[in-house]
Amino acid sequence: MKSNGQQGQQTMDSGKNRDQSASEAPDPPDPSESKNMPRQQTLVLAGVILLFSLVYFVLLFVALHFVRSSALPTFGIVFVSYIAWRNGAVAGLALVALNHLWTSTAFLILAPEFTRSYPPEAIISILVHIGVALLLGYFGRLAADLRNEIDVRKKAEASLMLLQNELEQRVEARTRELEKVNEFLTQARKMEAIGHLAGSIAHDFNNYLNIILGYSALLVKKLEPDSPLIEWALNVEKAAATAAELTSQLLAFSRKKKFPVRPVNLNTLIQELIPLLSSAVKHSIAISHVADAQLPVFDGGVDQIKSALLNLGLNARDAMKNGGALTFTTKTVDVNKEYRRKHGLTCATGTYASVSVADTGTGIEPEVFKHLFEPFFTTKDEGKGTGMGLAAVYGIAQSHHGAVFAETELGSGTTFTMLFPVKLLETPA
Ligand SMILES: Nc1ncnc2c1ncn2[C@@H]1O[C@H](COP(=O)(O)OP(=O)(O)O)[C@@H](O)[C@H]1O
Ligand SMILES: [Mg+2]
Repeated sequence: MKSNGQQGQQTMDSGKNRDQSASEAPDPPDPSESKNMPRQQTLVLAGVILLFSLVYFVLLFVALHFVRSSALPTFGIVFVSYIAWRNGAVAGLALVALNHLWTSTAFLILAPEFTRSYPPEAIISILVHIGVALLLGYFGRLAADLRNEIDVRKKAEASLMLLQNELEQRVEARTRELEKVNEFLTQARKMEAIGHLAGSIAHDFNNYLNIILGYSALLVKKLEPDSPLIEWALNVEKAAATAAELTSQLLAFSRKKKFPVRPVNLNTLIQELIPLLSSAVKHSIAISHVADAQLPVFDGGVDQIKSALLNLGLNARDAMKNGGALTFTTKTVDVNKEYRRKHGLTCATGTYASVSVADTGTGIEPEVFKHLFEPFFTTKDEGKGTGMGLAAVYGIAQSHHGAVFAETELGSGTTFTMLFPVKLLETPA
């Protein structure tokens, strides 16, 4: 609508130009301008006019004296042609009249014998002048109209080009946006599908592991204290416990794990977590907590969230082999469409309690970043990482109808942010 309005404005302006050129009169000099014209300039102009008059008289005199023809004073024809071409036939004719007056006066002074009987050459000369004024006035106007028409078309074309470019840019931006949203949705669906598969396997697996754990515990209990089999039974128990921990994380990822829902205060939770984490990290890592005192309380699984934050804390530790800073920050965040787009989220818009875990570690390579939350994705050596930590964090965020995202810079560090809904406004993207 706006662009159409602009175009209309432009056409109107061009029409105005055409009207102006139809009268073919050059802009009249501004009277205030001439008033302000410096004295010196006026004198120069007067001098030039005087000089031209003198030259005109001399030429006229020479022509009359040697050729003795009254058709000769046609010097004005060039000027008449120019004025008629530029300013129209009326201006040309006015000049012819002026020229005639001027020449007649000159004749009266210089060659009164010619003026006594008006010679036919003089009449022909005037008629030629009038013809030239009319013809050039007509064609001059046609040319001016044509120039204006071309101008109008050029302007219209330019504004059309502008509009087309703007449109193309908008379509491109919208397509890019849609592609991005599509990518987020595809990723979310992929995680959902893996979650289903992993969840059903983990569920059955867990049942078998509970049986193995139960029987190995019984074995340890029933065996004689000095029996060499005790060590084997303990090994079975230990392996089964590790496997149970893994399946528990798989269940957390697939959201198959039920948990009691209680009011969660993230600040209190972090305060409880810090001593636990401190014992697991080196002294060269400084742990701090930047708390939002007004952070709202929400309903959720305290143990689940604590284990998610512990996972994030341990990953941060692993990324800071030479020490650094680990900072927990809580905030109340208004998740709007812009925030969602910026962080590639599909959660509903609304108010969220957010907790960020920031480290000053290695940062994450783009290739690793793409797969961060996928189960069993790890860059750590065998026995050091299972690749289930972030998958569990993802599942825990999802089971709270929240979200998790990471921001990273190679060599500077990484920040993971978990969002928990407090008050939702709209359905997810
Ligand atoms: N804070 C971090 N800084 C750098 N890389 C990280 C960070 N957190 C996670 N990662 C990367 O993500 C991978 C997956 O993490 P995770 O799912 O917790 O599995 P794991 O810790 O067992 O490897 C890690 O192997 C590591 O490459
Ligand atoms: Mg981990």
